[in-house]
Amino acid sequence: MSKVTVVGAGNVGATVANVLAHKDIVKEIVLLDIKGNMAKGKALDSWQQAPIDYYSTTITGTDDYKDTKGSDIVVITAGIPRKPGMSRDDLISTNAKIVVSVTKSILKYSKNPIIILVSNPLDVMTYAALKASKLKPHRVFGMAGILDTARYRAFLATELGVSPKDIQAILMGGHGDTMVPLPRFTTVAGIPVTDMITKSKLNKIVERTKKGGGELVKLMGTSAWYAPGAAAAQMVESILKDEGRIFPCCAWLSGEYGVKNMCLGVPVQLGKEGIKQILKLKLNAEEKKDLRTSVKAVSSVIDSFKKMKL
Ligand code: NAI
Ligand code: 2OP
Repeated sequence: MSKVTVVGAGNVGATVANVLAHKDIVKEIVLLDIKGNMAKGKALDSWQQAPIDYYSTTITGTDDYKDTKGSDIVVITAGIPRKPGMSRDDLISTNAKIVVSVTKSILKYSKNPIIILVSNPLDVMTYAALKASKLKPHRVFGMAGILDTARYRAFLATELGVSPKDIQAILMGGHGDTMVPLPRFTTVAGIPVTDMITKSKLNKIVERTKKGGGELVKLMGTSAWYAPGAAAAQMVESILKDEGRIFPCCAWLSGEYGVKNMCLGVPVQLGKEGIKQILKLKLNAEEKKDLRTSVKAVSSVIDSFKKMKL
C-alpha cells in the first residue's frame, strides 16, 4: 500500500484524489494546496464519503509539504486553468513558476517519487518538472493522451451507438489543437473503425477531439475535471498495480519518432517504476507530417519556458 500526494486541490486535483480513493488501492492520499483550508475541507469531505462508498484509503488536506513526506507518486495539478478565449499555452508564465516551485518542494520530502503532471500547457510543464526534479525521465511524465483519447472514444461511441468500452484508440503529439488522433490505430471491438464510419464523419470527430478541451471551456467558463481527474487516477492505478498497461502519455523523448530533448504524447507502457517502454508505431507519411507539426508547436512553447530561466 502506498502514499500518493496530489498537489492542487482545485477541480482536477480534488477529482483525482476522490476517484483514486474509490479504487481503494492506496493507503494514504495527501491533498496539498496553497489554499490549505480548501484542501483540508475537500479531503475531509472525501474521507466522510468512505463509509458510504466503502473504501479505506485515508485522505488528508494540507498546505505543508512536510505532510507529503515519503510519497510514492505525486500528481501535480496546481496552476491556473484556462478561461474562454485562452489557449493552454497562454498559461505558461503563471504555471511554469508554480510547477517548478511545487516540484522542488516535493523533492525536499520525497527522494525518488514518480511525478505525473496535469497542469497546462501539459507538454511543457512535464518538461519543466523533469528538469527541475533531475529525476530519471521514466519517473516524470504527463497526463493528456488518456483524456484526449477518452474524448475521441466517447464521440465515436455516440456516433456509432456502441459502448465506449468497446472502442480502443491511441493518439500522439502535444496536448493542444495539433494533437494527432490516429484512426488507423482505432478499433471497435477489434474491428477497424474505418470499416464502420464514413471518412467525413470520422474527420469531424477527429477535429472535435482536437478542440475537445476548448468545447468544455466554452460551456463552463473553466476547463474540465471529471474525465481529466479519472485519467490521472487511472495512471496511478496502473503504476501501483504494475499492470503494464499501454496508454498515450507525455514522455521525454530521446530520439524516438525522430524527436529529441522534449516531452510529447506517445504510446507508453506503465509499470511500478513509471514508464517501462515507449512503443514505436509505424506511422505513415501523413501521420508523420502531423506529428512534426505538433512537435513544432510544442517546441516553440518550450522555447518560451527556457527564456523564463526558472
Ligand atoms: P483549479 O483552479 O480548479 O485548481 C487549481 C488549484 O491549484 C487551485 O486550488 C490553486 O489554489 C492551486 N494552486 C495554485 N498555485 C499553487 C501552488 N503554488 N501550490 C499548490 N497549489 C496551488 O484548476 P483545475 O481546473 O483543477 O486545473 C488545474 C490545471 O490542470 C490547469 O493548469 C489546467 O489547465 C490543467 N488541466 C490539464 C488537463 C490535462 O489534460 N493535462 C485537463 C484539465 C486541466
Ligand atoms: C482539457 O483538455 C484544459 O487541458 C484541459 O480539458
